[in-house]
Amino acid sequence: MCGIVGYVGEKKCTPILINGLKNLEYRGYDSAGIAVMEQNHIEVVKEKGRVKNLEDILSSTVLNGTIGIAHTRWATHGKPSKDNSHPHKDNSNTFAVVHNGIIENYKELRMFLEDSNYTFYSQTDTEVIPNLIHYYYSKYDEKTKDNFLKSVIYACNELRGSYAILVLCNDFPNMEIVAKKDSPLVIGKGTNEYYIASDIPAVLNYTKDFYFLDDNNFATIEENEIHFYDSNNIELNKDLKSISWDCTSSSKRGYDDFMIKEIFEQPEAIKRTIINRINLGKICNFSDINLSRKYLSAIDKIYIVACGTAMHAGLVGKYAIEKLAKIPTITEIASEFRYQNPLIDKNTLCIFISQSGETADTIAALKLAKQKNCKTLAITNVIGSSITREADFSIYTEAGPEIAVASTKAYTCQVALLCCFAIYLSEVLKRENTNLLENLKQELLCIPEKIETILKNCDVVEDVANKVYLEKDMFFLGRGIDYTTCLEGSLKLKEISYIHSEAYSAGELKHGPIALIENNITVVGILTDENLIEKSVSNLQEVITRGAKTFVVCNDENVANRFDYSLVIPSTYTYLSPLLSIVPLQLLSYYITKEKGLDVDKPRNLAKSVTVE
Ligand code: AGP
Repeated sequence: MCGIVGYVGEKKCTPILINGLKNLEYRGYDSAGIAVMEQNHIEVVKEKGRVKNLEDILSSTVLNGTIGIAHTRWATHGKPSKDNSHPHKDNSNTFAVVHNGIIENYKELRMFLEDSNYTFYSQTDTEVIPNLIHYYYSKYDEKTKDNFLKSVIYACNELRGSYAILVLCNDFPNMEIVAKKDSPLVIGKGTNEYYIASDIPAVLNYTKDFYFLDDNNFATIEENEIHFYDSNNIELNKDLKSISWDCTSSSKRGYDDFMIKEIFEQPEAIKRTIINRINLGKICNFSDINLSRKYLSAIDKIYIVACGTAMHAGLVGKYAIEKLAKIPTITEIASEFRYQNPLIDKNTLCIFISQSGETADTIAALKLAKQKNCKTLAITNVIGSSITREADFSIYTEAGPEIAVASTKAYTCQVALLCCFAIYLSEVLKRENTNLLENLKQELLCIPEKIETILKNCDVVEDVANKVYLEKDMFFLGRGIDYTTCLEGSLKLKEISYIHSEAYSAGELKHGPIALIENNITVVGILTDENLIEKSVSNLQEVITRGAKTFVVCNDENVANRFDYSLVIPSTYTYLSPLLSIVPLQLLSYYITKEKGLDVDKPRNLAKSVTVE
């Protein structure tokens, strides 16, 4: 879950590496470090805390090298400290390594290396890597590039777990070797230069042309040359792929934080995601996934598998697919799915949703589905991400880079894409009235404008936030599709504001949670499903009677007037309502967190991509 950056080229690399680390801080921010090749020796500078601390030290250090590696850490093995931060060197100071991932067998390897007289200076799993590379390298009499590569390959072949590593070697000051297994790594190409990173946004300022490594791939990189190898040292061919992300999309563009910028980007992001899918008067366009009518008619069940916010999008997907395409659909948390021996077979379509495309549990769940002969469809935001290399088919949300740890625009794009897919299934299988489906498509096209209307009223939500930001606990209540919005709203609030919150189906209130309602507690109600509004209003009345303050999001002024605070949002079809009702909840979490003076984009303990189990 750490972030890594590397550079090989003609320019001084330190500013490039620091800039890359800053763009990657959403991956981890416990400590940061760089290693730069300085006239045949590797200079390492590292520091506990945010990249800014490292930058401060570097302002008084002269580094002229043009080849380097860098790391921002999310601690797994060993507490955040200078000693545990990366890069790590081997005992002979020949190699420096940065690593993202977890080495599961590091204890065995450390014991083995200690028996061979290696000493360890950190508590990390990573420190075994440079020493293991040195162990193999020291067996060669000749110091050749080929022996450097072989030593990296042999060392990696011993590692169990996940890794993306960048390696520098004193003996080859013009070269960097990189390797990857189950952790993301991309190599961007410039003119006479290469940019290496765990995530594209780190280097998007410099290039849009990328090589994507597969698992167990290695690359040797020099200023004008790049070669790829597999774990048997056989050379591979790789195609360069261009990505369409705009380089300004990974900057704040005048907003205070990435999260608020990303909330405001939702209308455009949704438009990009659906515009080429929706064909008025014709079946939606999913020609990029080759699922025949015969296959779709035979599927008797769909599983949607994901984590966190992506799983909440999956709950909306289940609702839309079941209602429109009449296919039983189960939405499951990936970390549960992978260990529950799910009842799936060739007649189950398994959909995996992941913004990053790198979430370890989601990818493991996908591999399990493949073993059970299911067709697998990935929904992701990142071209070339690991999930796209595993799934039979991939479709993309066009959210652009999402930097804030709290997911906002990726969620609404996932929901919009799932709604399109549900309509498509219904059209292909002729499961719903054509008028309804056509109207839904028309309405989907209107959603961006309706979100704009909500965003124009952000000050209403800000006022509510200013009144409730000192709360210790909050509740979110809704029924049916509104309950899925409550789950997502509650996750948003707890992850960035650290306010304890619970989402409940309003009907469940009397079965336990109402015991927690006391004077002045804030309860948020989502009231957009017209068939269930009166029932939810009754439940909210019950909490008001017990002293709660209420904030509701609804479509009707008359309903709104019954509560302490409210926001009336445009109405839409129930299937699509989460696309609108989530926006005020995103804003509420954002403004509460700002009012509390916390870091909105980088909440404590969290990282953007959870690439370890
Ligand atoms: C969302 O705000 C979270 N930070 C988190 O739940 C996230 O959605 C989850 O980790 C899944 O990530 P993915 O979409 O990249 O797989």
